[in-house]
Amino acid sequence: MMQRKIKVKVPATSGNLGPGFDVLGIALSLYNELEMTLIPKNKKDRAGSVEFKIFGEGKDSLPRDEKNIIWQSAKKVFNRARFPLEKYNFKFQSLNRIPLSRGLGSSSAAILGGLLAANALLVNALDERDILSLASESEGHPDNVVPALVGGLTVAENGNKKISYIRLDPPGDLRAVVCVPEYELSTVKARSVLPKAVSFQDALFNIKRVSRFLSAIQSKNYEHLREAMEDKLHQPYRKKLVPGFDRVLEKGYQGGALGVALSGAGPSIFAFAKENNSAKVARNMEKGFLSAGYRSKSLVLELNKKGSIVI
Ligand code: HSE
Repeated sequence: MMQRKIKVKVPATSGNLGPGFDVLGIALSLYNELEMTLIPKNKKDRAGSVEFKIFGEGKDSLPRDEKNIIWQSAKKVFNRARFPLEKYNFKFQSLNRIPLSRGLGSSSAAILGGLLAANALLVNALDERDILSLASESEGHPDNVVPALVGGLTVAENGNKKISYIRLDPPGDLRAVVCVPEYELSTVKARSVLPKAVSFQDALFNIKRVSRFLSAIQSKNYEHLREAMEDKLHQPYRKKLVPGFDRVLEKGYQGGALGVALSGAGPSIFAFAKENNSAKVARNMEKGFLSAGYRSKSLVLELNKKGSIVI
């Protein structure tokens, strides 16, 4: 095989959307771009050369060698297809726009980037089901991995190493406002504060909200979103790790947001808004974090329909 270059683009995602813990997720118009170049080895080359050039988010902190999760993921595809890795050097270049450890699916985007780049090089040796099962092995959460792969609003579940999902077209008349605070929060830490069991009432509370959320989105009855995005399974436990949480929700609603919730495991906060007041919602949410003593940056994003693409 000659030198080959593959380029993939993977969107950010917001999981949970309030009550849909680990199930609901939506793809956003903010992208990481990854270029993978495969170079046939000369005899004198050292074994297993993998190099990364990283631009944007994580450029000073992410590993630039075999430890990078993009390579770990790509290797899974190569190994499954019995590709002779020892005959090649790999050069990666990533342009990261998705902030790290902020609840916007940066890990899932990295995992998918590696899987899809390797798969494209092997002329799609693996199908979508294989890609999803490898992604879930790598601890990609289905509420991030699935919308990042297929775009839109997804209802996904992970059982027996197999991800099943239903994809809905995202509402084109809504914008996502994502307010990203300056501080990070690891998903591991944000999961460690969750209870082992919840009450029947709390479970019922969330079932009602998820049902109402999906109906509100599909019927465009957006006035229901505020109540439909309430949650009792994770946000009440996590908000102590997210200073400003209540203030940001309040300010978001004052600015005209339709529904506001923690983005994934946090600490970013996600809001649905109409285009005409999305800028106000964005500013207000930043003020909410500021009143708790933290700076933040709001992004107004379209909802992504296409998911990941190989360019
Ligand atoms: N749904 C998962 C969680 C991860 O809330 O922990 C989302 O990024």
